[in-house]
Amino acid sequence: MEKIVVNGGKPLFGTIEVGGMKNSSLPILFATILIGDKCVIENLPPIDDVASALHILKSMGATVRMIDRTTVEIDTTHIVCGSAPYELARNIRGSYYIAGAELGRFGRTRVALPGGCDLGPRPIDQHVKGFEKLGVSVSFENGAIIGDAGEGLLRGDDIYMDLVSVGATMNIMLAAVLAEGVTTIDNAAREPHIVDLANFLNSCGADISGAGTDMIKIKGVRTLHGVTYGIIPDMIEAGTYMIAAAATGGKLTITNVIPKHLESITAKLDEMGVIVEEHDSSVVVSAPEKLTKVNVKTLPYPGFPTDMNPQMCVLLCLAEGTSVLREGVWENRFRYVKELIRMGADITVEQKTAYVQGGNKLVGASVLATDLRAGAAMVIAGLAAEGTTEIGDIYHIERGYENIVEKLRAVGADIEKVVLPDVAEASAV
Ligand code: EPZ
Repeated sequence: MEKIVVNGGKPLFGTIEVGGMKNSSLPILFATILIGDKCVIENLPPIDDVASALHILKSMGATVRMIDRTTVEIDTTHIVCGSAPYELARNIRGSYYIAGAELGRFGRTRVALPGGCDLGPRPIDQHVKGFEKLGVSVSFENGAIIGDAGEGLLRGDDIYMDLVSVGATMNIMLAAVLAEGVTTIDNAAREPHIVDLANFLNSCGADISGAGTDMIKIKGVRTLHGVTYGIIPDMIEAGTYMIAAAATGGKLTITNVIPKHLESITAKLDEMGVIVEEHDSSVVVSAPEKLTKVNVKTLPYPGFPTDMNPQMCVLLCLAEGTSVLREGVWENRFRYVKELIRMGADITVEQKTAYVQGGNKLVGASVLATDLRAGAAMVIAGLAAEGTTEIGDIYHIERGYENIVEKLRAVGADIEKVVLPDVAEASAV
């Protein structure tokens, strides 16, 4: 069993470089299915979810060649529709983009229903509604989603999303790129990764406008071609290290970022007294003497990101007084709270709101990474706490953070990954 062990209480000083965005890497990697040509994707984060996506593409018949740690060449000319291995696809959330990409290229799809972090129910009704509007009949069989547009191509249409969904917006874009006619997506998600996917597809010959607004227009084109494309920096990885600087009383320069994408995080940190200096492609974050309590509500972009909820909660624990943290996206984002309570946090959760009574010292404990971002929050809590924190289930963290241990050690953290015998193994000795 692998754990991350942190001896807390050391302020972080130095520079951390952020990698490519996980949540645009997965749709862009699966979008290559649609292209049916050779693409080179740069600035890919070397994380487990990306490795899983590349493994799936290879199993489907793509030729995948790593050029270096963060650059891959993918040729999807000979990909076989419907061949994504069930066990691999069900393990990552982003595998549902295979459905949109296969529908776009082949007019049919078969792929396992997606897995990913347990944040409460994760329905895909908006994806299905969009596919159906484009002329696809959708059914479910043995844990897989099956789509078939019958004879001919998908047909463009006007789609209104009942709620703002990142995944559904991207999946419908993928399905519509090669459809006949024009598709509009109203009430679309506006996240930077939506713009990243649109830019990738447009550079391959697609005709998408309005990405980054709530109305996206996709004019169907006949063909697409391969390109070389670089993924944007990961705003959530950047935000995680910004909070680590603030929580440890340190000062970090975080490079390879787009400061505009960090505005909602920067604004809340500013309200808490943290100093954030913005440069062209970096931010410098300095902790104040004393953190001020704030109220936070997570919302779709440009609101405060739900994927920063757990990390922010740790910072609120360190600010005197009661802060209120409302979750506006997921039903069940607060599973990590019981782990923070083990470390001495005083937090009460009522439905989708956490009341954080801050100002108590956090103390090291044995905790679990209940999901990816919750795991990052446990690391930050461990860095800020007195004593030793042992974090289990770290595979969640490794799905989405490249070398988190090494990056933090390089800026002064006392942190290491250790392999411990399983309880069952240990008791057998
Ligand atoms: C993406 O998930 C990210 N995952 C999540 O990041 C992130 O939390 C989320 O967007 C919101 O920003 C990936 O990109 C792989 P949604 P996604 O569709 O696309 C409801 C991380 O830590 N909904 O925007 O699955 C849904 O239940 C992960 O990196 C429907 O009701 O999120 C949720 O309440 C965790 N019906 C809300 O919409 C649907 O058909 C937003 O979900 C689709 C979604």
